[in-house]
Amino acid sequence: MRTPPMGWMSWERFHCNIDCENDPKNCISENLFRGMADRLAEDGWKEMGYDHVMIDDCWSSMLRDKDGRLQPDPQRFPGGIAKLARYLHNRGLKLGIYGDLGTHTCGGYPGTTLDKIETDAQMFASWGVDFLKLDGCYSNEEEQQKGYPLMSKALNATGRPIGYSCSWPAYRGGLLPSVNYTLLGEICNLWRNYDDIQDSWDSVQEITDWFFDNQEILQPGRWNDPDMPVYMDQSRSQMALWAIMAAPLIMSNNLRTLSNHGLYTKFTVYSPFLCLYVTLFFLQKRSHIEVYWRPLSQSASALVFLSRRQDMPYHYHTSLAKLNYTAGSYKAYDVFTGKTLSGLSATTEFTVSIDPSGVVMWYVYPRMHYEHPQDDGRYPY
Ligand code: GLA
Repeated sequence: MRTPPMGWMSWERFHCNIDCENDPKNCISENLFRGMADRLAEDGWKEMGYDHVMIDDCWSSMLRDKDGRLQPDPQRFPGGIAKLARYLHNRGLKLGIYGDLGTHTCGGYPGTTLDKIETDAQMFASWGVDFLKLDGCYSNEEEQQKGYPLMSKALNATGRPIGYSCSWPAYRGGLLPSVNYTLLGEICNLWRNYDDIQDSWDSVQEITDWFFDNQEILQPGRWNDPDMPVYMDQSRSQMALWAIMAAPLIMSNNLRTLSNHGLYTKFTVYSPFLCLYVTLFFLQKRSHIEVYWRPLSQSASALVFLSRRQDMPYHYHTSLAKLNYTAGSYKAYDVFTGKTLSGLSATTEFTVSIDPSGVVMWYVYPRMHYEHPQDDGRYPY
């Protein structure tokens, strides 16, 4: 996975709703995933890179079959997972599934104990699964130490390319020395480091704080997963922060009622340009405005001005020199307005106006080198 995976996952919005009798449109069932696949394929999401449909917890039957294999709930997934995978593949999409290293999933469904790892990996591959989120409820440290690398091997042994998301660090507090990020980088494509996101701005800020405070220990080169982007008034701020963290963008919105995805279009497909494996820097904090910076390839960089204010738009005065830029001539592309500011020298004083709990996000690049960045395909806009 050269760029962070993108797609849609059921958890944040639909959780473990299995009541198909009273809530047929929103229960965890093949209809939900087929319906969301239709939305991704027909509403332009796929072209933006949102190409995974990921089943989270509560898809399986309460019991394994007589041969000890996982099986989907027969009422809610009458067609089976392989058929659902074909439905997605026919639309150019990929299927993700959820498993849990342990006796049970977090929602109480059959888990994958150490002796079941190979069986489950083979099952997933035979169904045509393209991605596995392996959660860690109901297992201890020792089992996780064995199980996560074993699943990596077992997935590779199937011969089918399967993206592997490990919740392991989230169960070990996400910090050193309990978490070995070097090892994770070798066996997993992405991993959850921290708590589940909630549908609140407090939760978005808490996760951001954790990732900022601990960024120096986060292994670069693979994808740290701060969990799903949610869609609130402050969505734009979250998207800017998630993009500057190079986070996987796995939605969990109700795509049927999401009328406007203009916000997501600004980010289109992650390009390798956005994903340079370097850390995020915190440059300035003044008057409850925070400035985040991430160097990108080809001398470009991203800046996010985040307001933690709750009163009114704030006019933040600064210059690129004050933000540690070296002398030179720059252009700044405003991701949300689509406007480009040219003729910026490092010492030019400028003012950005930031809404309460809002952001301004810029791509800054040296003017001399690329006069027409749109034309050479190197820039993601
Ligand atoms: C844990 C995970 C969540 C979700 C639920 C499912 O809380 O962290 O992302 O998968 O389990 O039960």
